[in-house]
Amino acid sequence: MLADQTWVLTGAAGRIASSVRPSLAERVAKLRLVDLDLVEPAHEREESVVADLRDQRAVEAALVGANGVLHLGALADEADFHDLAEVNILGTYHVFEAARRTGAERVVFASTNRVTGFYSRTTLVEPEMPTRPDGFYAVSKIACEALGRLYSDKFGLRVASLRIGSFEATPGDERQLSTWLSPSDCEQAFLAAMTAPDLTYTAIYAVSRNSRRWWDLSAGEAVGFDPQDDAESHAADVRAARPEAAGPQGGHYASPDYSLDRQR
Ligand SMILES: NC(=O)c1ccc[n+]([C@@H]2O[C@H](COP(=O)([O-])OP(=O)(O)OC[C@H]3O[C@@H](n4cnc5c(N)ncnc54)[C@H](O)[C@@H]3O)[C@@H](O)[C@H]2O)c1
Repeated sequence: MLADQTWVLTGAAGRIASSVRPSLAERVAKLRLVDLDLVEPAHEREESVVADLRDQRAVEAALVGANGVLHLGALADEADFHDLAEVNILGTYHVFEAARRTGAERVVFASTNRVTGFYSRTTLVEPEMPTRPDGFYAVSKIACEALGRLYSDKFGLRVASLRIGSFEATPGDERQLSTWLSPSDCEQAFLAAMTAPDLTYTAIYAVSRNSRRWWDLSAGEAVGFDPQDDAESHAADVRAARPEAAGPQGGHYASPDYSLDRQR
């Protein structure tokens, strides 16, 4: 089924894309790697295109002939809001609009758990609950999720927003015992979203099956995402930190300084 597919991977030089790339390249006819600088193909079915997400024409050219897009390219953390608006919001608009114009059927968008980062650690959050961004980066991702919903409702594009947790080889601190997304669960989340047959629009939490997780997994399970790892098995290795049981899920990301220090 995937053997005739061309998929585009934006942000191909980044941490997550580098991790999921090998298993994508094995499955599809062509994997087109898109980033600001040339990403060397490492597989015979990979090809590279240099494109800045802010350049609408370049993004459209990068999608010609594609069946689906994994859109990971972004400023991946808090930054000046003007830059977030240009790269994340406008750049993602360019991706959705290019998909519409070129006829790509599906876009899987790398969103973030931080779109709900102001919920308390005592709340189990479901994707349908109102967003509570923990910073400007999260606001930019909420705008992108809204674009995804619009392109699905209005133009019939199949769209999944993956609210990614903390992508790490192993959980690195106490918060990540709740938010960890293991590399193999991450790969599974993207593959499930790229292949779910009846997808229209969904937002799901891409998080491992952590015993201490704060997010409901059922929307992900509905599209076939069945995470296998649990951060608890690494709990003994995580440096003991002061528990912040009642604080916001976003932790230090939710503090005023984390956002204000990054504005021009
Ligand atoms: N790493 C995590 O734990 C995590 C958590 C939640 C969400 N996410 C999201 O997942 C995606 C990938 O995250 P990552 O950790 O691999 O990030 P990363 O910073 O390692 O990779 C992002 C990539 O986007 C590219 N990029 C930035 N601006 C661009 C532009 N103007 N045009 C083209 N490409 C551009 C960068 O060159 C980079 O290769 C991002 O969208 C991020 O917001 C990541």
